[in-house]
Amino acid sequence: MEKTFLMVKPDGVQRNLIGEVVKRFESKGFKLAGAKLMVISNELAEKHYGEHKERPFFGELVDFITSGPVFAMVWEGENVIATARQMMGKTNPQEAAPSTIRGDFGVTVGKNIIHGSDSPESAEREISLFFDESEIVSYNKQD
Ligand code: CMP
Repeated sequence: MEKTFLMVKPDGVQRNLIGEVVKRFESKGFKLAGAKLMVISNELAEKHYGEHKERPFFGELVDFITSGPVFAMVWEGENVIATARQMMGKTNPQEAAPSTIRGDFGVTVGKNIIHGSDSPESAEREISLFFDESEIVSYNKQD
């Protein structure tokens, strides 16, 4: 079954939005396969956001994502990577449609509540950066 990596960022955790985010994905019909509340190290943040290293906002991005606890999750389900991106809305909350997570709860592009993998390759990479295999449950023994 397809899996994706989702993370409630420090702004979302601070604003008590973990439950709201989890509820949306549970209600949609996806299965939570792994979860942890953690503070990201600088090293992990730089690896996770490696593709943005040359961007002018990279320093700000790393400072923000390491600034407080995040809620890291693995979700599974049919087409979960693309569907989760739709449910999150556009990266810039000001462009995100109402009823999406960023559209409903975010205002600025830096503090946009949630991160989600954008492709099967990033999902695999991000899940293995944040989770040990033993931390991911399987609902179906064939998975
Ligand atoms: P995310 O999906 O976590 O992936 C990269 C993040 O970079 C993105 O969400 C935004 O929060 C952040 N980002 C994108 N553009 C900017 C910007 N101009 N300034 C600050 N952060 C940005």
